Amino acid sequence: MKVKISRRSTFNAAHRLHNKQWSEEKNKFFFGKCNNPHYHGHNYTLIVSLLGDVCEDSGYVIDISYLKKIIEDKIIDYFDHKNLNLEIIEFQDLNPTLENILKVIYNKLRKEFSDEFALSIVLYETENNFAEINEMPG
Ligand code: NI
Repeated sequence: MKVKISRRSTFNAAHRLHNKQWSEEKNKFFFGKCNNPHYHGHNYTLIVSLLGDVCEDSGYVIDISYLKKIIEDKIIDYFDHKNLNLEIIEFQDLNPTLENILKVIYNKLRKEFSDEFALSIVLYETENNFAEINEMPG
């Protein structure tokens, strides 16, 4: 029987949704308030989960303090209090939507954990808007 262990974290960041290929009018129409040229902020909530076997010796799926440290070092320190468009290299040519931020976080975290874990990530941009990536258990 596998167990899923999760860690919740938060960070704040500013962004602007904009497609350089589109006209000002189309950007304004499509992205609305999120196209504000002066940016706006969100309080993001991130839930990272690892599904795996419980180790017989430790009783852990993974040491959650290790999970916490990886999330803090690789994600929170990287994104917190940043302007995503201006300061985060991944968004130089990528719109920092909820979906794309989630994908960037997934790609960063995937290389930190062994394939024996199925990784799931949920990212909330507001209380009611969230996106998720769920790996299937191997
Ligand atoms: Ni926004």
